[in-house]
Amino acid sequence: MTQQKVVLVTGATKGIGREIARQFGELGWIVVVGGRDLGRAEAVVKELAADGVEAAAVRVEVNDAQTSKEAAGWIEQTYGRLDVLVNNAAIIPDGDGPVSEVPVEALRAGFETNVLGLVATTQAMLPLLRRAERARVVNLSTELSSLTRVGDPESRMSSVLTTGYNASKAAVNMVTVMLANELRADGILVNAADPGNCATDMGGWDAPRTPAQGAAVAVRLATLPADGPTGQLHAEEGRLPW
Ligand SMILES: NC(=O)c1ccc[n+]([C@@H]2O[C@H](COP(=O)([O-])OP(=O)(O)OC[C@H]3O[C@@H](n4cnc5c(N)ncnc54)[C@H](OP(=O)(O)O)[C@@H]3O)[C@@H](O)[C@H]2O)c1
Repeated sequence: MTQQKVVLVTGATKGIGREIARQFGELGWIVVVGGRDLGRAEAVVKELAADGVEAAAVRVEVNDAQTSKEAAGWIEQTYGRLDVLVNNAAIIPDGDGPVSEVPVEALRAGFETNVLGLVATTQAMLPLLRRAERARVVNLSTELSSLTRVGDPESRMSSVLTTGYNASKAAVNMVTVMLANELRADGILVNAADPGNCATDMGGWDAPRTPAQGAAVAVRLATLPADGPTGQLHAEEGRLPW
């Protein structure tokens, strides 16, 4: 079994996920780049390899559990375990909008990718995470998942009317807490990361933060010491309220 630590990042073909992969590479980790398009994941691997990072591409379409199972099989054969899973892949569904208008299909698509896909990927990787000494799981969430923030009419978050996105990320928070409870006795820490509004396809290119700044929040949670928090939502400035 390799001595180097191994991380899988889903949705690492662009944006914050690609940056999370790059930052793990800088830490000297083996980086498994998950992408629903294998060719684009391989392009990221090439970029990383050019910087001296050991990296490999796997096809993970989070809505197709078979791809996660096959990726887990490959990681097991190649590295024997997984130290960190970063569930980064997500969408704002097409047609997302206020509760009064959002098409149910958009809600369904948001939950499909952001929640069901995340759980299926996690289930596929859990046996490998259990083989690591100090495994960590990080789920990308958002301030828009916070009932406290969205429920505060003075907060900017209350004016963002993407029901499918916000509600699915609130469900991600619950999954995070419940998985943290399940894995506490095994010493596996599970947390949710809010990267802040970053300039990506999803975040909008005029967003105030860089993908690197957003990625750093996830990488910090993925490398917490043994006595670090679990079952929490953290942003750069610290813990966020649910
Ligand atoms: N950017 C922000 O301001 C912001 C703020 C708060 C939270 N977040 C969270 O941070 C994470 C990354 O966001 P981002 O801004 O980097 O988004 P992005 O630029 O849109 O990238 C999303 C990534 O997820 C992948 N993806 C989408 N659906 C997938 C599926 N079904 N299976 C596998 N991969 C899939 C995309 O793959 P393709 O390249 O194939 O499309 C892409 O690699 C998300 O969880 C997001 O909710 C972002």
